Amino acid sequence: MRSSVSFLAALLLLSGSVIAEDGEGRALYDAHCGACHQPNGSGVPFTQPALIKSPKLNGDKDVTLEMILLGSEAVPIGTSDYSGEMPRFDVLSNEEIAEVASYVRTHFENDGGAVSVDDVARARAKFAGGD
Ligand code: HEC
Repeated sequence: MRSSVSFLAALLLLSGSVIAEDGEGRALYDAHCGACHQPNGSGVPFTQPALIKSPKLNGDKDVTLEMILLGSEAVPIGTSDYSGEMPRFDVLSNEEIAEVASYVRTHFENDGGAVSVDDVARARAKFAGGD
C-alpha cells in the first residue's frame, strides 16, 4: 500500500513539474514573442518570420540564444528578409531565457531540444558581454 501511494505521489509530482515547465515557457512566449511571431508560431509574411521548422531552432543552441539575446542585431545588415525589428531580450533573466528558448525549440514542429540556464549564461558572456 505504502509503495503504491508513493508511486502515485511521484507521478503527481512528475506530471506537475512537466506541466509547470511547459506552462512557464508558454506564458513567457505569449508575453514576449507571440505578438510578433503569433500564438501558433506562424509569423506574419514579410514582417516577422514563422518559428515553425525554423533552422535557428533545430541546430546549435547558440544560434537560438544569440537571436533571443540580441534580437535583430544578430542578423547581419542587408541579409534580412523581414521588415520587422526584433528587440533584444537580454533584459530577461537566464532562467526566463532558458524557459522560452526551450519552449520554442520543442514546439512549432521544432526538435532542437531544451536549453539550460548554464547554456544561457555562457551565451550571454559570448554575445551580450556578460551579465
Ligand atoms: C517586435 C517583434 C518581435 C518580437 C516581440 C520577437 N521577435 Fe523574434 N523576430 C522578429 C523579426 C522581425 C525577426 C527576423 C529578423 C531578421 O531576420 O531580420 C525575428 C526572428 C526570430 C527568430 C529567427 C527565426 C528564423 O527562422 O530566422 C527566432 C528564433 C525568434 N525571432 C525568436 C523570438 C523569441 C523566442 C521571441 C520572444 C522572446 C521573439 N522572437 C520576439 C520579430 C520579433
